Amino acid sequence: MSAAATATTKVAPAAVPQPAARPGVPRHVGIIMDGNGRWATARGLPRAMGHKAGAEAARRAVEAAGEAGIGWLTLFAFSSENWQRPAEEVRDLTALMRHYLATEVDRLAKEGVRLRIIGERDRFGPETVRAIARAEQVTAGGTRLNLTVALSYGGRAEIAAAAREIARRAAAGTLDPETVDERLFEGFLGTAGMPDPDLIIRTSGEKRISNFLLWQAAYAEFVFQDVLWPDYGAPHLEAALGDFARRERRYGARAA
Ligand code: FPP
Repeated sequence: MSAAATATTKVAPAAVPQPAARPGVPRHVGIIMDGNGRWATARGLPRAMGHKAGAEAARRAVEAAGEAGIGWLTLFAFSSENWQRPAEEVRDLTALMRHYLATEVDRLAKEGVRLRIIGERDRFGPETVRAIARAEQVTAGGTRLNLTVALSYGGRAEIAAAAREIARRAAAGTLDPETVDERLFEGFLGTAGMPDPDLIIRTSGEKRISNFLLWQAAYAEFVFQDVLWPDYGAPHLEAALGDFARRERRYGARAA
């Protein structure tokens, strides 16, 4: 069974701490970190250097999110589709993830950051799976910021895994198909127990969702920023939050 399926077997999600957001601040922000390759190419550097600089930007974004009062931050670090990149780049990216896990975890724990990984973690091999489990365990007590990193993640695969598990249970007679509604379905996603994202940011000027949090983004606001991810910092996040604060969210209802 894939890790995504394993991660979706909780019908009743565990109680998750819900840090109160400041007024006008989104509770949950998702970021599609795009532009590492272009950043490196523009400097005549190998793409791996772009990803390394991207990891530094991720660290800055985590810090800035905590300071802005955001309770939940989800970073799209490696998509299901990224496996199709050249083997060398996949190797560089996975090595970087492992390095990040090894070097950042104690600092995250100290700063009250709880780290979760969503996606098909098993595809990375046993060493990475162990590093992820350790990181989740060491940071489990964090309540200031819930940081989720999407690794080998695809929204469609996540939804299909949830449907598969529900179908299995229905076939085994342990779940009544008539009880399947949106609430129950959400409990089978990798994000079970997390609030939906209020704001999704994508950098590098591209304007696509690229299979990120497809179910969860139903009512998210989108902000597209023209900065390449390795250049991202607190002022960019502040600008995105300012844009978000000016949006009128109606969830399908009419304006008052
Ligand atoms: C998109 O840039 C970025 C990625 C595929 C990887 C994102 C990974 C990181 C930012 C580093 C690791 C992060 C953590 C949290 C440890 P691209 O390569 O698609 O850039 P391009 O579109 O310019 O080619």
